[in-house]
Amino acid sequence: MNAKHHSGISRATTDHIQALFEIEQRCFPGKTSYSKQQLGHLVLHANSTCFVERQGEVIRAFVIVTYRRGSLTGHIETIDVDPAFQNQGIGLMLLRAAEADMKQRDMHWSQLEVSEGNEAALELYRKAGYKFKEKIEGYYKYEHNGSRNAIRMVKAVKVK
Ligand SMILES: CC(C)(COP(=O)(O)OP(=O)(O)OC[C@H]1O[C@@H](n2cnc3c(N)ncnc32)[C@H](O)[C@@H]1OP(=O)(O)O)[C@@H](O)C(=O)NCCC(=O)NCCS
Repeated sequence: MNAKHHSGISRATTDHIQALFEIEQRCFPGKTSYSKQQLGHLVLHANSTCFVERQGEVIRAFVIVTYRRGSLTGHIETIDVDPAFQNQGIGLMLLRAAEADMKQRDMHWSQLEVSEGNEAALELYRKAGYKFKEKIEGYYKYEHNGSRNAIRMVKAVKVK
């Protein structure tokens, strides 16, 4: 394969933050997106792992997992696939990479919140084995896909 078009997953670096911000804006136009500063913090300073998926030089998607000291639960903070590259299996692949990172850190659970109107994401998580935990009314400050409510989902990542 031509190296220029080689695709794969790697850890995000400072150099990727602008590209992540642009994907975030395309995925969540308007007020609902993370600011560049928030993304920079999550990628570089928080107790977190950020993976990017790239083809050649093009960053197509990313996932951010955050961890809390003393907790056995990893948290999927966000997973964004550039709209131009959705429905090609990249989201599921990144989710698996995030779960592998959690396993490596001896987490027992993966947890996330998703807008109750975000059918694509709800389907992705269901397909990956996540189960409904609770509904949180008014979780988001602004409407996402027509609702401010979130669904919290969880999956066991530690094989017993
Ligand atoms: C949700 C998102 C991450 C999915 O990523 P993706 O790369 O397009 O998804 P994949 O191609 O890996 O799809 C995996 C599965 O998810 C489900 N899915 C993905 N997109 C879907 C859609 N538009 N409608 C219904 N189900 C969908 C399907 O079950 C799919 O499996 P299948 O292809 O065998 O049917 C992507 O749509 C996205 O980035 N959306 C905008 C940002 C966002 O909402 N992120 C989630 C925040 S909680």
